[in-house]
Amino acid sequence: MTEKKNDCVFSKVSRQHRPSVHFTPPTGFMNDPNGLVFDGAQYHLYYQHNPSAAYSADICWGHATSTDLLSWKDQPIALPNTVDGQAFSGCALLDHENSSGLFANCHGTNLVALYTRSLPTRQSQYLAISHNNGQSFEEYPGNPVLDIDNPNFRDPQVIYHAPSRKWVMVIAEVEKHRIGFYGSTDLIHWTHLSHFGPAGLPTVNYECPNLVQVRDESGDLRWVLFVSINPGSPMGGSVTQYFIGDFDGAVFTPSDGILRLFDFAKDSYAMQVYSNLPAGEAVTLAWMGNWQYCQELPTQDWRGAMSLPRDLSIRQDPNGYPRLVQKPRGVEKLRRALSCEHAVYLPKDTHRTVSLPKGKAIEVVIRLTADEPRQTETTQTGFQSNRFELAFANDEGEKLSVGYDLSSTQIWLDRSKLRGFDHPFFTGRFAAPINTAFYDNARSLDLHLFLDGCAFEVYANEHLETGTALVYPEKPLDMLRLSTEGLGFTIDSLETYTLDKTMRRDTL
Ligand code: FRU
Repeated sequence: MTEKKNDCVFSKVSRQHRPSVHFTPPTGFMNDPNGLVFDGAQYHLYYQHNPSAAYSADICWGHATSTDLLSWKDQPIALPNTVDGQAFSGCALLDHENSSGLFANCHGTNLVALYTRSLPTRQSQYLAISHNNGQSFEEYPGNPVLDIDNPNFRDPQVIYHAPSRKWVMVIAEVEKHRIGFYGSTDLIHWTHLSHFGPAGLPTVNYECPNLVQVRDESGDLRWVLFVSINPGSPMGGSVTQYFIGDFDGAVFTPSDGILRLFDFAKDSYAMQVYSNLPAGEAVTLAWMGNWQYCQELPTQDWRGAMSLPRDLSIRQDPNGYPRLVQKPRGVEKLRRALSCEHAVYLPKDTHRTVSLPKGKAIEVVIRLTADEPRQTETTQTGFQSNRFELAFANDEGEKLSVGYDLSSTQIWLDRSKLRGFDHPFFTGRFAAPINTAFYDNARSLDLHLFLDGCAFEVYANEHLETGTALVYPEKPLDMLRLSTEGLGFTIDSLETYTLDKTMRRDTL
């Protein structure tokens, strides 16, 4: 009897937190996106998956397809867990010219997967090909195609480097804290080219490298090397760092010594960029999760979500350093307007509350400008904090907030006042600096937010700062509250939307 009741409670919690737009697995556990490839008609999303339980074990490749990266159709398991090992992370690509010689023709949908088979004592790289457009794969009989007799050597990503007319694999030499580069003309025989690292954060494991070209604002393509590390994030646990530089077909050389992070919060990891997109397009999905707590999240029927698809580009910051811009892609078509306001003034120390529909994905786009701070007040009363806060809240006192501290020009993301998940590593508050030189007025800020079940995404400062966080309120957050402290703020524009559901998981 008690067991039955607990089951009901668990599945209610699982339903309450399930996003309606962000991709989640039908059941069981999901971590990294794998094999992101556009086959000319469909986007494939393979992912690390345990269909039988909501924790990491017996990992295989789950699979879903989409024509817009937002509405996904579940497909059968694409790569099973076998006696050769679990099917760990890897990539998929199109072998247009049949350079592997494994297909009957050139120019078909010659889909190849390269991934890690993981045994407790050995991780080696496998190749598999698909004859049915990625629905299932046949393993190459000569596997493994790359094996250096190492238990921690994984997550290959392969690109075609046209100038040197070869395939290049980037792969994590996990415990050496470096990325290996290998070259091949047939995807089967690989020779070592170079390695990169240790670089950036001192850490325990390097994982899931991705080498991609991203367009900058002058139209040039820049090489970017993404390296996911775990643990060792300054925020705790898992984080992705990236380096911008040059790649000559063998060696990656960063253009400066700057360490850049992909996200300022805790739940964006193991991102991959789609292969076979038109030149200059770089579309990414990241796993919304962190190894510190991903196997203990309160949704016991399923665990793991993907970020929204995001377009990547590069923009120079006012000091001349290139930075990654992440923009959610294609969500406009899902919008239903809730409100649209312009030039609304919110005097200092006041708030405004509007109600939100329950159980819907919400998008908020806001631009605001603070009043000029007044010097006299600061000197009379000691330090005067000047803040604006936007909070998703409920009557039970729960609150998820994003705010701007004008005095220090930083934003915060605060999930600490939600009560649905308590874990020593599930820390609550994150911050990011705002570069005011991007605005006409140095007291301005723009925010772009998505709250969708347990998935919360914050884009700020012209999409140069991204904060991705899992959030677990006990009760739905059905109010949006804007408040000021110390100063008045003009809300230059505020748009709120619900987003049409794209994920159909009603049966669960
Ligand atoms: C990253 C990772 C990869 C590995 C996979 C296993 O999250 O640890 O290095 O291939 O997950 O599921």
